[in-house]
Amino acid sequence: MGIHFGVDYYPEHWPRERWETDAKLMREMGVQVVRMAEFSWFKMEPRKGEFCFEWLEEAVALLGAHGIRTVLGTPTAAPPAWIIEENPEIQPIDRQGRRRHFGGRHHDCQSNEAYRAHIKRFVTAMSQRFADNPHVIGWQIDNELGNSHGDLCMCDSCRARFQRWLEQKYGTVERLNDAWGTAFWSQGYNSFSQVGTPLITAVGENPSAMLDWKCFCSDLIVDFAKWQADIIRENCPRHFITHNYMCFDDKVNYYDLGTLLDFVSNDIYPAGHWQKQPHQPEYELAACHDVVRSYKKQPFWMMEQQAGMAGWEVMGRALEPGQMSAWAMQSVAHGADAVVFFRWRSCAMGTEQYWHGILGHSGRPGRIYEEAKALTHRFTGHMDALEGSMPCPEVAIVHNFRQNYALQIQPNHPRLRYVEQLYKYYKPFYDGRIPVDFVQDTDDLSGYRLVIAPLQYLMTPELERHYMEYVADGGHLVLTMRTGVKDADNICMTERALPGKLGELCGIEVPEYDCLLETVGGVQYDGGDYETEKWCDIISLDGAHAIAEYTTGFYRGTPAITENAYGKGAVWYVGTEPGTELMAALSEYIIKKSGVQALGTAPDGVEMMTRQKDQKIWLFVINHTGKERTYRLNGTYTLLEGEKEGVLAPYEVQLWERFEKAE
Ligand code: GLA
Ligand code: ZN
Repeated sequence: MGIHFGVDYYPEHWPRERWETDAKLMREMGVQVVRMAEFSWFKMEPRKGEFCFEWLEEAVALLGAHGIRTVLGTPTAAPPAWIIEENPEIQPIDRQGRRRHFGGRHHDCQSNEAYRAHIKRFVTAMSQRFADNPHVIGWQIDNELGNSHGDLCMCDSCRARFQRWLEQKYGTVERLNDAWGTAFWSQGYNSFSQVGTPLITAVGENPSAMLDWKCFCSDLIVDFAKWQADIIRENCPRHFITHNYMCFDDKVNYYDLGTLLDFVSNDIYPAGHWQKQPHQPEYELAACHDVVRSYKKQPFWMMEQQAGMAGWEVMGRALEPGQMSAWAMQSVAHGADAVVFFRWRSCAMGTEQYWHGILGHSGRPGRIYEEAKALTHRFTGHMDALEGSMPCPEVAIVHNFRQNYALQIQPNHPRLRYVEQLYKYYKPFYDGRIPVDFVQDTDDLSGYRLVIAPLQYLMTPELERHYMEYVADGGHLVLTMRTGVKDADNICMTERALPGKLGELCGIEVPEYDCLLETVGGVQYDGGDYETEKWCDIISLDGAHAIAEYTTGFYRGTPAITENAYGKGAVWYVGTEPGTELMAALSEYIIKKSGVQALGTAPDGVEMMTRQKDQKIWLFVINHTGKERTYRLNGTYTLLEGEKEGVLAPYEVQLWERFEKAE
């Protein structure tokens, strides 16, 4: 496509006379694309059926005259007041049974037929209007689907739809009763029509029902997106369709949603005011990019890359000189083909007045503008070459939405979070300059030397077989505590001791366990003492050998981490949550044992990542600190971009290349 840098632009927030200046400044900055209109329903249809696309066409044409293309957003995350007046029932109902009202955004129920009819009318008109516009290249459906829907909608329409979904899944209500274990607390149903949405109860909830509810909500969001995707596909066969994801966010299964899209896009705000201070750590950002790439196993777009201080009522930290560029190129290093900065200019009104852009409120180009300009001028050419290239990691971490849902419903330990565990297992690889893919548990794993599958809580016979075959064929696998605990319906396994059939693979049994409530645990590993957290599986060996033993609890002296040879491969079982030091030491050992290669060596704050296409490999080295840093690469590369080989200026990004010999 040849499009690599852009901005999110809201011309409707500014006087018409300003647009020309904006377009000129954008062109000089190296902007090739803008995303527009994703919240502008009222501007485009101020009254039912009265379409006003002229202003948008004018903006598209004006930008087009400066060589800037447009991605259009459908504004369905912000239905205007007249729609709410006509159909107040589209406003969602929360878990307390309260209606969530107009005045913010995402005030829409995604199953409501009246709302779908409004969408059909509007998206049909909009897509027909822009289908042949020479400057429009694609569409973003809605905006951050699943955002602002903490509880999702529990209205009558959603309830009826949930019942239909359950009927399709179970066929008879007896099967539902079985799957949900409704014998407990007299929860049996006589018919699907008795099943409700999970409105707040007097006390307690059914974990199996909750798991179905979360999966239903995800399916509903995918269906909601498809409603629009089908219309746009029909009217705009030349255009791509994408959607802006939010990293590991979980309201909608992003793998499923990806099947509707030509490619996935992502939004990232490392220094948002809600993030860890002073900003979200780079290893977490790297993991976000890796999972986003993995949703479709394709390069992606950054549809919103943080360009300035972020905040609504309160603000996060200002970006240091060079920091925005380093984060933008981090996105590219992990697979972004295009980076669109949010937003062009800080907005003067509304909720997001303090969500700063490339330009400040005054609209005058300043520090951030100059930095963005230098960035595009340096990297646009390289990104033409990089387009379509992909990292080729030897390591994969298994990621699954259902596991996340089940552990949200019952975290087991009050502070256990699925995504946090993924980050913890990811970090040593990031620190070791070893690229990682995320994979689904149904994927072919044979291409990876090492697979880490944290918290395989819900288990099926197929998944057991999958892991056993992977290791038997020579794979290296890491399994952890809380594996094989439940069946697919979220009901406890009863046939064997934990971790079920995988006990044969691991050479262990877990007859008992301990939850480290408000305390930590300890293990001895390789002659050292280490802290562990949250959980201790009490393990008996059945062929495996222990590589770490507990030093705390009545089970002190028993195995905490085990290693087992199985077929041509090896498997480790980690029965507790390693603290940071133990995680680093253990990973180092596993990396060595599985023969995984690092890209180089460097101090903290320096990131390395590769992308590859045909015979060519690009290696990015990124300094995420405000200090000079040195590094060494493993292997021979040629420097494409950078001041000084092996030395990084503050926040500098260097790019290397290497050609692989044809086999
Ligand atoms: C999200 C949304 C944007 C904007 C930014 C800043 O990522 O997609 O519309 O609201 O956050 O709040
Ligand atoms: Zn609803």
